Amino acid sequence: MTKNHSRDPAVIEIATEIAHALDIQQPSPFEKIDHSVFSHENLWVKRDDLLHPIISGNKWRKLQISLARIIKSKQTHVLSFGGGYSNHLHALAYACHKLNITLTCIVRGNYEKSPTPTILDIRRWGGEIIYVTKSEYRQRNDAGYLKRIADHYAADVLLPEGGTCSDGIDGVATLIDECVLQGMPDVIILPVGSAGTLAGIIKGINEINANTKVIGVSVLNAGNSHYQTISELYPKAEILKNWGILTAYHHGGYAKQSQALIEFTDTVSNKLGFSLDPVYNAKSFYALDQQIKSGNLSDNDSICILQTGGNQGIRAKK
Ligand SMILES: Cc1ncc(COP(=O)(O)O)c(C=O)c1O
Repeated sequence: MTKNHSRDPAVIEIATEIAHALDIQQPSPFEKIDHSVFSHENLWVKRDDLLHPIISGNKWRKLQISLARIIKSKQTHVLSFGGGYSNHLHALAYACHKLNITLTCIVRGNYEKSPTPTILDIRRWGGEIIYVTKSEYRQRNDAGYLKRIADHYAADVLLPEGGTCSDGIDGVATLIDECVLQGMPDVIILPVGSAGTLAGIIKGINEINANTKVIGVSVLNAGNSHYQTISELYPKAEILKNWGILTAYHHGGYAKQSQALIEFTDTVSNKLGFSLDPVYNAKSFYALDQQIKSGNLSDNDSICILQTGGNQGIRAKK
């Protein structure tokens, strides 16, 4: 397998410098999961949750190239989008605080009277919070709306919700370079929200011509709409046959939990010795368990589940 990246080396170099400045712990550990937790002999977890206590998991992966480009082009004011418990806004606010970048957050809903712990952190790090109605928030990808708010708040850069954009997926693709050094698995499993992380993993694997299979676990009740998103983010994915999305493990929808999921999460995170956030990782680990039990994953394959972080979101359930 050879590296064949299309990514700009100057930007990657700045991303590496930012990683040092922020004390990102790369590569993230690749740990074996004991057979007593899930009955599979060759099961691994890539602990992206340990990349950083705040910019954890896929947040660092997705933001690194966008941040590098902002620094490279000497831009100073970023505007982005998210909900009141957004892992993305939380990580971005911390990074902007450390890198002296001004941040404006467009937040869905109004938490003025009872700010979430996420919003309190963002404010503490100097981020400006603008609450908008759900109907205004729905315009977040509309070109005319984006132009108006960029002008209104004098922002130089707009980052989409979740940091999901072309630079975001290129950042995620760098995770595959680490896998190559740590032992490329036969199967990678990960949670899917906006689908940027999945698109980046598919891209990273394709760039090195590996035949690793990728299984996304949708955490929302989105039917098959992720396939469309993936082909917009990474058009080549449409012709690749090594990936798919499980759509039956959303447990009622985004941020919803079934009783079975709650019980599973408590038991399994105790056995694993690390937390599983209820919105993303609880659902992907649950799906992994079910897929092993139903015999859909071969005993001969090495399987790696990505722990994508997001532990600050656990505060939503308290
Ligand atoms: C902790 C965590 N894991 C997984 C995901 C899903 O990633 P994506 O939105 O790129 O599908 C998110 C959302 O970005 C997240 O915050």
